[in-house]
This record gives sequence, C-alpha cells and structure tokens, in this order.
Amino acid sequence: MQIGDAVAGAAAAGNPLRDPRDKRLPRIAGPASLVIFGVTGDLARKKLLPALYDLAAAGLLPPNFGLVGFARRDWSDEDFRGFALENIRGRTRHRFSEAVWDRLAEGLRFIRGTFDDADAYTRLRAALEELDSQRGTCGNHAFYLAIPPSAFRTVTSHLAAQGLAGDSDGTGERWRRVVIEKPFGHDEATARALNRTVAEVFPESAVFRIDHYLGKETVQNILAMRFANQLFEPVWSAHYVDHVQITMAEDIGLGGRAGYYDGIGAARDVIQNHLMQLLALTAMEEPVGFDPAEIRAEKIKVLSATRATGPLAETTARGQYTAGWQGSNRVCGLGEEEGFVAGSITETFAAITLEVDTRRWAGVPFYLRTGKRLGRRVTEIAVVFRRAPHLPFDATMTEELGHNAIVLRIQPDEGITMRFGSKVPGSGMQVRDVNMDFSYGQSFTVSSPEAYERLILDVLLGEPSLFPTDREVELSWRILDPVLAAWEADGTPEPYPAGSWGPAGAEAMMARTGREWRRP
Ligand code: BG6
Repeated sequence: MQIGDAVAGAAAAGNPLRDPRDKRLPRIAGPASLVIFGVTGDLARKKLLPALYDLAAAGLLPPNFGLVGFARRDWSDEDFRGFALENIRGRTRHRFSEAVWDRLAEGLRFIRGTFDDADAYTRLRAALEELDSQRGTCGNHAFYLAIPPSAFRTVTSHLAAQGLAGDSDGTGERWRRVVIEKPFGHDEATARALNRTVAEVFPESAVFRIDHYLGKETVQNILAMRFANQLFEPVWSAHYVDHVQITMAEDIGLGGRAGYYDGIGAARDVIQNHLMQLLALTAMEEPVGFDPAEIRAEKIKVLSATRATGPLAETTARGQYTAGWQGSNRVCGLGEEEGFVAGSITETFAAITLEVDTRRWAGVPFYLRTGKRLGRRVTEIAVVFRRAPHLPFDATMTEELGHNAIVLRIQPDEGITMRFGSKVPGSGMQVRDVNMDFSYGQSFTVSSPEAYERLILDVLLGEPSLFPTDREVELSWRILDPVLAAWEADGTPEPYPAGSWGPAGAEAMMARTGREWRRP
C-alpha cells in the first residue's frame, strides 16, 4: 500500500474514518465533469491525465466523475479510454490499480470535432447531459482549454451558444468553470484582449488561469515559511537584504518544440508567469487572512509597485544556446534543433533586474533568470543578506565569509538552506561559510502531490487562491513589456554553450553592481 492510500480508500468509500470538517486533509471534489479541449496534446498526455488518475487513486475525485475529451481524432469512447490508459500507465504517483482505473474509465467520453464545428458542441452538450442523468454529475462542468489562445474565442462562443458558459446554468446551484493555460497573451495589450474575450462569456469568478508553479508544494510553502514563523519576517526587508535572485534553470533543450517556441522565448515563457509569481510571494506583505481575495490583493499591490530597472542594455541579458556538453553528453545547439526557424532571435536564456518600489524593498534589486540547456535543472529563490555592519576580526579571518543567505529550494531537492559563517574548528578565529538544511524528503514522510493534481482539484472545488487573476497577469506583462520592447528594438541574443550558466552578458549585469549569480 502506498502513502495516502489508506486515507484515500476511506475517502473514496465515504468511510466515516474521514471527517469532512478536518481541514488537515484535502477536501474531496463533489459531483462534476471535466471537459478537456486539446486532449491529445502534450500537456494532457503528460500532466492532466496522470494527475486525474492520481486524484482518483487518492480518493479525491467523486466516484461518478465524468471526463470528456474533445479533439479532432476519429475516435470512439473506447479508443479514448485506450489512449488515456496508455498515457496514465507509468506516469502516476500512485501504483496503478485496475479498480481505480475501471471506476475512472466508466466516466470517460470522447467528442470528435474541430474547434469551429458547431455540431460537435451539440454532441458535447448531449454527452454532458447524459453524464448528468446516468452518472449524476449534477450539471457541474469545468472546461479545460489546453489549446492555443487564438482558439479561445471560437471555443468559448460555441460553449455560450450551447448554454454551457456563464458561472452556472441559471439556477445558481450548478457551476460552470473555464480553465485556461498559458501563454496568456504576448504582451499587456494582447493579455487584456484575451481577458475581455473570456469575460464575454465567463465571469472572472469562473475563470481559472493555470500557473502550474503555484500548484507546487514548495511554492505554497513560501507563505507558510514567511507568515507562520517569527524567525524570518524581521529580516525580510531592505534593512537586512542586499538583493534577491530568482532562478529557474533547465538542463533540457527545446527538442521538437523549437518551432512552437519561436517568437515566445524564455522571458514570455517563464519570467512573465512563474518567476513573477515567485517574486510576488517573496515580496508581498502579510495578507489579512488566507482568504483568496486577501492573498490576491497583496500580490496585486506588490506587482503594481514592481518595475524593470534600467538602463536595460546593462541590467538585462539574453542568449541562445549553442552546442555543448550536458554532463558527458554532447548536445546540439538551438540552430540544429528540429523545427528551428532560421534566423530566429528568440531567446532561450533571459535575465532581468527588477525593483519593488515599496518601503520594505526600496533599493533591493530582484534578479530573475531562466534558461534552457543550463548547467542543471534547478529552481530556487535566494534571499542574499547584507554584510554585518561591523566585523570585529582581522580581514584575513573573514576572507572565506560570503553573504548570509536563505535559499528556498523549489525543485529538485526541495527544501530550504540557510548559509552563514562559522568558525573553522582548530583555527584561531577563521570564519567560513556553512549551510544548514531543511529537506522535505527527510522531514516529511508523505509524498507531495504533483502541481496539476492540486490545481485540478482546486478547480473542481472552486478554490481560486492558486490561480492568478486577470489583473495579476496584466501587471506581470506591464513589468516585462519595456524589456521585450527594448530587446526587439536592439540587438540579438548572445550565444552561450549548452551546459553553461548563460551568456557573458548575464555575468556582466551582476558585475556592474559588484554582485554575482549563485552557482546553484
Ligand atoms: C512551462 C514552460 O511553463 O514550464 C516550459 O512552458 C518549461 O518551457 C516548464 O519547461 C518547466 O516546468 P517545471 O515544472 O518542470 O519546472
């Protein structure tokens, strides 16, 4: 039996062992169906279908859950079941169980259609009504748009024409929700236009925008760490903090995604969403409570106060990877990737400097960087402290003392590191940096749910805290837009070898203020 299975089994069976008022356990979704548009795509195959199985295995989906796939393939329900099973096996956290799969498979339906095929939406409505009457999904439907934003309007207007949009069916008892994947716009103007498109048929309260970083346990822990403890908050300000570095590095290259990625680039793909959200959680003030509206209000405040520091030619850097070594493997450069668009100036590495103009953070630079084919896969937030104002030692004694730091290790090797100076045993008073570690793996025996499990469950529960609002998305673009415009107007990305930590310009942007990037 795997971790969580006992609780899960009890929950699934409606076992009285599980008290629904117990807030320590995740809540179980009520009757509902989820419709996935773009169900044959990468996201659905690799993330959504396995996450749904894991939710079912954990007993967090109702036994009568309905799952409808919508795509172009000429498939029957049975074909769709085969496809789902193929993609679930080997990708889940829970061990595969025929019983869990059989229960989930009973609620699977497939609708064949293109996004602009009105008949397909008539069939979709009929399928949902059938699920309501046969399985008791009670008219509660979530529509997951795992599709290009250019198709949003077509899909949402067809849903509206079938009476499937809005936030309920008019009775107020049944709910409708729409789930939107990124990229959410290309800049502030297009993000606003997309928000308006969706708002024409779904009120903001029914819109769930996915930023899968918010579904990660370690990201949610930022608020626990900051606001459940007395230890960190007093030093969490410009009085003590020198600067903050937020890094999301990947060792993988673009592979077959080079064509899709062209024109998007690292800043739009990762900084605008994941890294801005990490900044907001790191820099925001304490919310009045953990009500979703209170947390969002604080994130909006901090994003409103954030802007790019100039001169942008010196405070930002961008690059494209060239061939190099990833460990002992020789890997190709961007130009050799399948689908690469000749002459593309889309960056695979981006680094920017931001400032948060509030009393707490005035003068503290926030450095954000992300890239493909970097030294290793790591996401972390490093809060780097000022030096002690006075060191009562000979200079030689503190030669090996760096800056104190608190590093939130988002992934992999999830945990928190504190770095500080310590006397070298046996020395007169030689001080050297040491690390103190908290590791999730060692402190907790429960395994963390995947981000998409938590987010899909929250959609079904109507719990919006972990989904950025229209305003947050627009503000994040507003911060990034000047950088993107400057890059577009001037120059090209610098090359950097695969397996390195980015282009020379990234080092230079730190060196101009006497700082350097951490080597995570
Ligand atoms: C996605 C980006 O949002 O995040 C991808 O579009 C990136 O380019 C991915 O690879 C990384 O996610 P994670 O959870 O593996 O850090």
